[in-house]
Amino acid sequence: MKIAMVASEAAPFVKTGGLGDVLQALPQALSEIKNNEVSVFIPFYDRIKYSGKYDVEFLGYFDVPLAWRREYVGLLRLKSRRKKLKIYFIDNEHYFCRGCVYGCADDGERYAYFAKAALASMAFIGLQPDVVHCHDWQAALVPLLLKTEYRESFPNTRSVFTIHNIEYQGKANLSFNYDVIGLPRECDEILRFDDCTNLMKAAIVTADQVSTVSQTYCQELRYPYYAHGMSQVLSSRGGDFTGITNGIDIKLFNPMTTAGLAAHYNEKTFREGKVRNKLALQKELGLPEDRDTAMLAMVTRLAGHKGIDLLCYIAERLMTRRVQLVVIGTGEEKYEWFLRGLQERFGRQVSVNLCFSADLANLVYAASDLYLMPSKSEPCGLSQLMAMRFGAVPVVNATGGLKDTVPAYEGPESEGRGFTFQSYNADDFLAAIDRALALYYDAPAQWQELVRHDMSQDFGWDKGAERYMALYHKALGDKA
Ligand code: GLC
Repeated sequence: MKIAMVASEAAPFVKTGGLGDVLQALPQALSEIKNNEVSVFIPFYDRIKYSGKYDVEFLGYFDVPLAWRREYVGLLRLKSRRKKLKIYFIDNEHYFCRGCVYGCADDGERYAYFAKAALASMAFIGLQPDVVHCHDWQAALVPLLLKTEYRESFPNTRSVFTIHNIEYQGKANLSFNYDVIGLPRECDEILRFDDCTNLMKAAIVTADQVSTVSQTYCQELRYPYYAHGMSQVLSSRGGDFTGITNGIDIKLFNPMTTAGLAAHYNEKTFREGKVRNKLALQKELGLPEDRDTAMLAMVTRLAGHKGIDLLCYIAERLMTRRVQLVVIGTGEEKYEWFLRGLQERFGRQVSVNLCFSADLANLVYAASDLYLMPSKSEPCGLSQLMAMRFGAVPVVNATGGLKDTVPAYEGPESEGRGFTFQSYNADDFLAAIDRALALYYDAPAQWQELVRHDMSQDFGWDKGAERYMALYHKALGDKA
């Protein structure tokens, strides 16, 4: 099958969150399936273009219509020996060389342009994909374009739209079609939601299949509490809206090989391996070097829905436990202030690192015993998977993908992987941490068994890639 992916980020080229990780690992996994050819289209942001890190070839240029004007498209491709996986970059200095990825006043226009440019690029190189798989609001115009402006160019191509983050929907004012997109008036109703233009809504109603990144989240999105206004639109798709749980790149995230660790280890050698990483991390962060104290970690965006409020609420009480806490991340100022204050008061227990560094993150996963993820909602979440792969036991709010990937530990006989709480409540969060600490300190053999169990799970993309293949076949109308 010929699959084209359209997304605003893909690691290692550009990544601001989990979307970037998925767009690195999923295309790779799909390309390993027999007879598949995968092409990935992302913007040629300045951080890629001027990094000097990538060997690219220029394929040509042309322009695309945006309402009453035409805009330049430069098309480049990563030079690579991989025949079944190609990475394409859409170049336009005006739109993508801004010193940032998102956050411009004209983001709507930038990504409306991107969606058109991606399809125009496929036509330019003569690529006729069976399925175009587009991700989040930035690529959300693609399904509608495939049914309208690009119908004749791609008569047999079907579309799949995946929701990674429903908070951002690509909203614009009602004249957006007239000013920027330039589709016929009949499309206004499709693009319209709540008296705005809403690109995600247009994708949900026009894509041949719609999905999100875990099964529980797919159920949750039918409720207004989670769906940011989209619950009815999503429900209207019935069985054409499904959940496929993300994986991670298990070659990239591998305690036997990953860079940044003080010692490599596997599910047999983790006891010694994790202690060496813990001591190295304590040394690096200036925490007391103590192999026995439970190390708690969070690697997260400091955003409300990640559950940072719960951490703030229990922080003082948590400090009365025998723990060290390491936090890595950046985000909302109020949380940064709070965490800085916490570190000032409890410097021997807390290390707050308001930055993001992949190497440090890997060391933290490897060094920590408990990984905290009290998200208010979580489409899938990837860091709990990375944590388990490195033998850090998750403590999570049982919501979205966290519920699917971290079944509750209920004793040595259970298949559980971590400690969970069932409602977004700080005391319940603390109680879950306490249950974890009780096992860690009072039943070390069972604790080790749990770590071994988590490390031996298969968090790779093989199963997920097969499920996406089934979804693509469904989009194409193939019989199962
Ligand atoms: C978004 C979601 C996260 C998910 C990721 C990749 O970042 O918030 O839960 O894992 O996308 O799908």
